Amino acid sequence: MEKKKVLGLSFGRKMGNTDIMVKTALMECEKAGCEVQFLHVDSMNIKPCTGCISCVVGMTTGRGKGGCPVKDDFHILDEALMECDAVIVGSPTYVMSPTGRFKSVCDRIGPSHDITFRKAAYDEGLAAGKSADQLPDPRSFKKRVGALISVGGAMTKNWLAFMLPTMYEFTMSMGIDVIDMHEYFGAMAYEHVLGNEPEMERSREMGRNIAAALAADTEEERVRWRGEEEGVCPVCHCDMLTVSKDRTYVECPVCGIEGELKQENGKISVYFSEAQKKRSRLHWDGKLEHSTEIKTRAVGPGQIPNLKELKEPYKGYAEA
Ligand SMILES: Cc1cc2nc3c(=O)[nH]c(=O)nc-3n(C[C@H](O)[C@H](O)[C@H](O)COP(=O)(O)O)c2cc1C
Repeated sequence: MEKKKVLGLSFGRKMGNTDIMVKTALMECEKAGCEVQFLHVDSMNIKPCTGCISCVVGMTTGRGKGGCPVKDDFHILDEALMECDAVIVGSPTYVMSPTGRFKSVCDRIGPSHDITFRKAAYDEGLAAGKSADQLPDPRSFKKRVGALISVGGAMTKNWLAFMLPTMYEFTMSMGIDVIDMHEYFGAMAYEHVLGNEPEMERSREMGRNIAAALAADTEEERVRWRGEEEGVCPVCHCDMLTVSKDRTYVECPVCGIEGELKQENGKISVYFSEAQKKRSRLHWDGKLEHSTEIKTRAVGPGQIPNLKELKEPYKGYAEA
């Protein structure tokens, strides 16, 4: 049987805490019989998304397959992502969130890699008799599992507040099922994570969790949550909530689903209905809801006849 492939990605300093934690998890995957690959993403030339949206326009018009016109090292990361069956992503905390490069990569694998856009373009292209090289990469729809590692120097967990919720931006579009995540805070109280055995062991455990998910016989077992905390949201297992404008319900900002806030015996919990859980943007239905609204409601050019004229006073305005 072909070996399962696990890709480890680090957005931290070379041989820093994040690198070591991701590599430690990979070592366990290798021990369990997986093939592993590590990419230190900060050493790669990956430019930010320019916002041209040619990826989405190409897929929705049937002229493209989700490719990006920006020329840089992204194709190396893309090929590794297409090949892998699991991905372990680690990022340090920079000002409470993942690093700028992490966000740049999320943008490059955002709409362009959304499985609902890609699958529709693939199926429609196939039906229209297109050849394989004109269709989105079929490896885009492969089932994958993932794990997230957040590393923060601060001693207080709230200085990593947006880390794990934001890190879901990496896995969301490709529909990677996150089965474990871990936050290492207080990293600056140690010279290096290599001297912090509980954290090293937690990284090993993550590797074992990924290998076990890859070896699962059933879909239920494959996607089973293996993280240390259930979290307030039963889909993403994060603890972040936003409150609706009319103050009648709360939302999980990661999943985009509505829930009912409860307080019992001094403890806060949220009830999310099965229908809401199903429409989480981490699932196919939630992504389809979004790609459909873009396909059916986003308007093309030529709607404002005098747009060129309207733009004129803004051209170069107050620019140095
Ligand atoms: C620009 C910058 C901002 C940072 N902001 C935070 C922060 O908001 N919260 C935190 O916990 N650590 C913060 N840190 C500390 C890093 O998260 C910490 O040094 C981490 O261990 C770096 O990961 P690495 O060792 O894998 O490179 C910041 C570091 C830098 C360079």
